[in-house]
Amino acid sequence: MEKKQQIREFEELKAGVKELLGFNVFQYKDSYIGRRFDSRLRAYHLETYDAYWDLLRRDAKEQERLLQELTINVTEFFRDQPVFDVLRQQIIPCLLTKKGKIRVWSAGSSDGKEAYSLSMLFNEALGEQQAAARVEILGTDIDADCLDHAKLGKYECHPGILQTDIVKQLRFLPNPDHFFVIQGNQYSVKPAVKSLVRFEYHDLISGPKKQNIDIILCRNVVIYFTRELQEVLYQDFFNALNPGGFFVMGKTETLVGPSRSMFTPFNLAERIYQKT
Ligand SMILES: C[S@@+](CC[C@H](N)C(=O)[O-])C[C@H]1O[C@@H](n2cnc3c(N)ncnc32)[C@H](O)[C@@H]1O
Repeated sequence: MEKKQQIREFEELKAGVKELLGFNVFQYKDSYIGRRFDSRLRAYHLETYDAYWDLLRRDAKEQERLLQELTINVTEFFRDQPVFDVLRQQIIPCLLTKKGKIRVWSAGSSDGKEAYSLSMLFNEALGEQQAAARVEILGTDIDADCLDHAKLGKYECHPGILQTDIVKQLRFLPNPDHFFVIQGNQYSVKPAVKSLVRFEYHDLISGPKKQNIDIILCRNVVIYFTRELQEVLYQDFFNALNPGGFFVMGKTETLVGPSRSMFTPFNLAERIYQKT
């Protein structure tokens, strides 16, 4: 197909998807959206974006599948363990010196493993009762299935498959069974861990701005957003933090735009910044 026509069809498909699914593909990098579309085209052996659009607008199941494809939600407990070392050894002790509630936000929380990992660290540092009294963790995402899964707090462990090998991921903890009810392959987060965490729908692109947060983790989410949007989001995160608050990015993400001079590096290797 001619390149010009392919670009036209791609743009039309993007517009159609935004209208049909309410997912703003225009705020994501074309390379990312293109890979997601192409993978759906391949699934149906289709050659053109027009042909895929024809199928998509009539097939509710495919609409669901495309949404899932667009919101990749790979995650793990204690993903990038060195980051959680810094949280455990430096950031949490530092925040415990402050009076009042400690408010944590896992932005793009997927099925909740990141938010629950943080809850386990606070439970470990403070004990159940103190942690419940002092810490509030908010997990937000735009994927409704992920949010349902997160609220349920039950995870299947399949040893050998990295993403679901919970045993490996939990090596970070001295006593994993302290935080989970383990029945065969099923790991259910215990009430003490759950009680610190709340999950809600929130679109980082169009949702209301947050405030009064002490730690924001937004990892492996904005990497798919356009640079312009990343600039805006990083400033939003800066504004959302309390003075002294921490911003934790993904390992492959970097600050862009004015936020580079707003944040103070706290641990560059682990991509952790502070609002000083
Ligand atoms: C790859 S997962 C990252 C999960 C976790 N932060 C981690 O690093 O393990 C990316 C998550 O971002 C969510 N996401 C994508 N676009 C979003 C948006 N505009 N607002 C909120 N969440 C979004 C996806 O639904 C997905 O669950």
